[in-house]
Amino acid sequence: MRSTDRIVRRRYVTTDLDAVIEVFQRAIREVACRDYDPAQVAAWSKVDRDEWEPWRLTRPTWVAVLDEKIIGFSDLEADGHLDMMFVHPAHQGIGVASMLLATVEGAARQEGLSRIFTEASITARPFFEKRGFVVDAQQQVTKEGETFINFRMHKILDREV
Ligand SMILES: CC(C)(COP(=O)(O)OP(=O)(O)OC[C@H]1O[C@@H](n2cnc3c(N)ncnc32)[C@H](O)[C@@H]1OP(=O)(O)O)[C@@H](O)C(=O)NCCC(=O)NCCS
Repeated sequence: MRSTDRIVRRRYVTTDLDAVIEVFQRAIREVACRDYDPAQVAAWSKVDRDEWEPWRLTRPTWVAVLDEKIIGFSDLEADGHLDMMFVHPAHQGIGVASMLLATVEGAARQEGLSRIFTEASITARPFFEKRGFVVDAQQQVTKEGETFINFRMHKILDREV
């Protein structure tokens, strides 16, 4: 049995909020921290739970679940923007993000989108490149007074096979 065989993908529900916040913060603090300095990591991983709660419901979000524990999540906005792609540090490199991306792409096709786009962190850029995204531009964004480099990337979706 492959390590991903027991991973289930499903739509996010409100009771998943604390679990996705934990994945978000741990992925940044324990994985993306290799590409960003401590002040950037602190700013990026700061979460206002009261803001996240309604915000998570403004677009479809999918979670990857292993043994009833959320180990990753991603989302898709109506214009094709993939905003979030985060995998728990203990479950990196086994295809969780790839599974989530396949779900996002399937949803995008169903919505009639031919293109999806994201702002990839330095950490995530190689993942997105492996999965067919191309870099449009390097950009600087600001959060909590910290400036970050990331990459605007897009992927043209093939027709469903
Ligand atoms: C980027 C991230 C989502 C990838 O998740 P993952 O589940 O480990 O990715 P997968 O296992 O599906 O990897 C798919 C492919 O990308 C490659 N890959 C993933 N991350 C990589 C990296 N940092 N460098 C090089 N290759 C990478 C894998 O080797 C794999 O290649 P393969 O198909 O040849 O086996 C995860 O590392 C993460 O959460 N990073 C920290 C948070 C972050 O920066 N999120 C993105 C915000 S935009």
